[in-house]
Amino acid sequence: MHAAEQALVPRLEAAVVAAFGAEYGGWDPQLRAATRPEFGHFQTNLPLRLAKSTALPAPRVAERLLAQLRVDDLCLPPALGGQGFINLTLRPEFLAAQVNALLSDDLLGVRPAAPSQRIVVDFSSPNVAKQMHVGHLRSTIIGDTLARVLSFVGHDVVRRNHVGDWGTQFGMLIEQLLDEGGDDGDLDLPALDALYRRARTRFDGDPAFADRARARVVALQAGDGQTVGVWRRMVAVSLAGFDAMYARLGVRLTRADVAGESSYHDDLPRVVADLTEAGLLTRSEGALCAFLPGFTNRDGAPLPLIVRKADGGFGYDATDLAAIRHRIDTLGADRLVYVVDVRQSLHFDQVFALASAAGWLPTRVAAQHVGFGMVLGEDGKPFKTRSGDTVSLASLLDAAEAKAAALLDERGSTLTGPARSATARAIGVGAVKYADLAGGIGRDYVFALDRLVALAGNTGPYLQYAHARLASLLDRSGGVPGRVTMLDHAAEQRLALLLTGFPGAVESVAATLEPHRLCGYLYQVATALSVFYEECPVLRASGDVRASRLALCLAARRVLATGLDLLGITALERM
Ligand code: ARG
Repeated sequence: MHAAEQALVPRLEAAVVAAFGAEYGGWDPQLRAATRPEFGHFQTNLPLRLAKSTALPAPRVAERLLAQLRVDDLCLPPALGGQGFINLTLRPEFLAAQVNALLSDDLLGVRPAAPSQRIVVDFSSPNVAKQMHVGHLRSTIIGDTLARVLSFVGHDVVRRNHVGDWGTQFGMLIEQLLDEGGDDGDLDLPALDALYRRARTRFDGDPAFADRARARVVALQAGDGQTVGVWRRMVAVSLAGFDAMYARLGVRLTRADVAGESSYHDDLPRVVADLTEAGLLTRSEGALCAFLPGFTNRDGAPLPLIVRKADGGFGYDATDLAAIRHRIDTLGADRLVYVVDVRQSLHFDQVFALASAAGWLPTRVAAQHVGFGMVLGEDGKPFKTRSGDTVSLASLLDAAEAKAAALLDERGSTLTGPARSATARAIGVGAVKYADLAGGIGRDYVFALDRLVALAGNTGPYLQYAHARLASLLDRSGGVPGRVTMLDHAAEQRLALLLTGFPGAVESVAATLEPHRLCGYLYQVATALSVFYEECPVLRASGDVRASRLALCLAARRVLATGLDLLGITALERM
């Protein structure tokens, strides 16, 4: 049988329910991890609960439950704990079989999703001519992780980078660049970013320039050759900058995944025509708007979705509507996931509501906005430099890598040369990614390098270290581990039990789109490993004990390596 088909907790719960089935029925079996090792592996306080509602004394209920509980294949004889608790201790041979099943399965017990869906994950999505900021960093990291997890469980994932490459800002950008003498060939993303700021200042202060910028937008949308040429160049320079960042982060996003806002431009008149025909648009102050029931601003006034602006231009709302249609009708999506700042939730609520009303988003297709919180500085305010500028991602990663290099020195690492810098990079990037994921993505989090790039605590480096330590131990063992044959020690059992939880952890991330669940799980594994090393010698043990412990270490290593990879973090062999 497949390891996960006999997933442990559901089986035990079923046994508890079955024991009570006839008499009480319908109860949550209340199965929990045991709070103390002497209580075994699991406990349930169901007798206590039932005593309250049946007026039978708890110990009587517990005795009855015990008499009818059939878990002999999984557990040692269940024991009555104090106050009507029932304690369950798994049979070591059963646990060992579970770990061995994990070892012989490429998916480590994860059950392939049924049905497998085609899921479009929209993430990263930075804006052309602007450097990515911490918000885009978060989207990139979270989206990459979700895409990895959803693919791992067997979904067909389409990654979409909805790059902001269209809109009125290009008028001023192009005009400014031409004013300054055009592109000298050295244009890169930081230079474009600076150009953007100069253009913005001028646009706000110089009405003649603003007029020319507006005319330039019209020229761009009308396909004027010179204008389109400059725009293309800006897009190319920006995408090259983004690619460099993705490579540095080890994020799986390629040019083939880019479908910028501009790619929907030709569909936009049809979006307007179809919505008009469906009677969903109202003209308001020259703009074409959708007023949907339930959307009001703070004063209770209806809140429109602007599908076409008064000047005839299209914006962010229209593009997202066209993108939904494209993703469902052309890409064949069964599900749409958007990894975007939580402050855009109203935008997505409105877009999804209008797309549903128009019949473009049928109920069989789920559309989910995975909103994430802000990255804060140590002062608790949005992450900025001292001078109030947004922090460039490159400088942020530089700092994390420098800190990681210092960490290696502190530990007396023997790595040198390129291996040392590659390791420092993996630690620095891993620390940032882990911090982005571990606290729960909906929440804001404080970016404190000293805490993130540390070997102690719930950090990326801590997990990488746990993996590297296993790798080195297995290396030094001088053999290929076989199977787990004995789990006599409580620390071995605890580790084994945790390892069998891997499929559950991954499946729960796939189901909830909450990567912190996997982080928390891996952290537990790493912590259980420390206790295991302390109490159970591996290389110094001999015979069957040594062999069995090595197999347990191999299983732990595979769980950590696979888990880290799903988080986009390099599982280091050495540190
Ligand atoms: N470019 C947008 C921004 O920087 C994010 C786009 C998110 N994706 C989407 N389909 N709207 O805020």
